[in-house]
Amino acid sequence: MSLHIGAQPGEIAETVLLPGDPLRAEWAAQTFLTDPVCVNRVRGMLGFTGFWRGHRVTIHGSGMGMPSLSIYANELIREHGAKTLIRIGSAGAMQEQVALRDIVLAMTSSTLSTPSRGTFRELNFAPCADFGLLAAAHGAALAKGARPHVGGIYSADVFYDERPDLNAELTRHGVLAVEMEAAELYILAARHGARALAVLTVSDHLLTGAALSPEERQTGFAEMVEIALEAAFS
Ligand code: ADE
Repeated sequence: MSLHIGAQPGEIAETVLLPGDPLRAEWAAQTFLTDPVCVNRVRGMLGFTGFWRGHRVTIHGSGMGMPSLSIYANELIREHGAKTLIRIGSAGAMQEQVALRDIVLAMTSSTLSTPSRGTFRELNFAPCADFGLLAAAHGAALAKGARPHVGGIYSADVFYDERPDLNAELTRHGVLAVEMEAAELYILAARHGARALAVLTVSDHLLTGAALSPEERQTGFAEMVEIALEAAFS
């Protein structure tokens, strides 16, 4: 057990998928894994371990935002032996060519700050995805007929954003989409020698105001789980 994860030693797999929402973790485990076992419910943050095509996998909620993800990713890697961590989540598009339902694979992520700010101080560290996972996810997405975009994203500290000027600069600099967790995941993976990737579905569009319905979000979520699993074990 660790402070926020009630799993016993050995109950977390080396490969972990990280949706933000714990109920999505439960749904994905029940839908895609065989013999899923609940290994965490501390503070309602659900985690399940089971098998996908014979491979052992844990699907564990990360919560929303980098401070929350940082708690779970730290404990998963440092105390439970996770070696491959793939965030699966939603993002807001920041480019015209990125449409609702498209897949964004985050090669890197820009931030104003992360929980690791104190480590780097004046340095602007460039968090980056594991290339093998990124390439495998790109192949898996294309094979499914999805529309994957690969490039930089923005991991924001706040959902209700008061900086339209900053968003406009990020759009001008080619940033594909905004979410709230990937940068810290990439930094922690780099620090502890793990592999990380964020596979994102576009759920809303910052330039047009369009947004997916809850049913459409669920379909996009299922596609992301499949892409992440195929990438992890390719
Ligand atoms: N996740 C999905 N859409 C988002 C948005 N517009 N801002 C931040 N995180 C998001």
